[in-house]
Amino acid sequence: MAFNRKLKTIFGEIAELYEKSRPDYPKELFKDLIKISSIKKDSKILDVGCGSGKATIQFANLGYNLIGLDISRELIKIAKRNSTKNVKYVIGSFEKTKLPKNYFDLIISAQAFHWLNPEIAYFKSYNILRSKGYLIIFWNFQKYNNKPFLKSIRNLFKKECPNFPTSKPHSIRKYKLKLKSAGFKAIKRKQYNRNIKYKKTDYLRFLESHSWVNSLEKNKKIRLLIKLNEILDKQKEPLEIPIGTVVVIAKK
Ligand SMILES: C[S@@+](CC[C@H](N)C(=O)[O-])C[C@H]1O[C@@H](n2cnc3c(N)ncnc32)[C@H](O)[C@@H]1O
Repeated sequence: MAFNRKLKTIFGEIAELYEKSRPDYPKELFKDLIKISSIKKDSKILDVGCGSGKATIQFANLGYNLIGLDISRELIKIAKRNSTKNVKYVIGSFEKTKLPKNYFDLIISAQAFHWLNPEIAYFKSYNILRSKGYLIIFWNFQKYNNKPFLKSIRNLFKKECPNFPTSKPHSIRKYKLKLKSAGFKAIKRKQYNRNIKYKKTDYLRFLESHSWVNSLEKNKKIRLLIKLNEILDKQKEPLEIPIGTVVVIAKK
């Protein structure tokens, strides 16, 4: 099934579950993006689709000032609850929100850029960045290949979830083409890998927080969660789940 952009509002509907169940981002990622973009403590940084502030707050805690922008009032409410003083939040869609041209030193977007309208998002990012500014897009993804129970989970998703993305979601070919046509140069890909330890109940919540699970009608979702639980029941705790983080780095 192709990626379904209509599900972009689903995270606001499950805001608390999203916040509790999703992992943060690797610490080295922030160190690297600070180095690559040469930002300073007073640089202008925008986080597009900041959600509950997972990346925003991790970044702000390193002493930088950020603006977090998101369409979901519920997620921004959680972000404000968890946040530090050096983050300002704006509720609105990236496509429609008025933002100054040639202004930002760095735009980040964690797990969110693919939800934006590509006809607008790439050109708008380019326009609001200052000369030689950076757009850095990243996302966590789970690997299903290295353990039989993870393969069973993927097969179940493929069978039961019409919105489970089966095309290669972590290739950056499509991003590269769109970034280039918007004017970006020096486009690079980086990947970080880690294993995250989960209790079974926490991992089940993490699985439940995905758009392809939450877009199922209630009975189908319950049936799926029961089947996932049956798969997990046979496993020992803690579960070690391989999580990759892909980063796409583009310079204006
Ligand atoms: C998977 S969540 C990622 C949230 C956060 N960046 C993180 O790392 O956890 C995707 C986010 O993009 C937001 N979003 C989707 N479409 C958007 C748009 N057009 N403009 C702004 N935010 C949008 C959603 O509300 C959601 O918070």
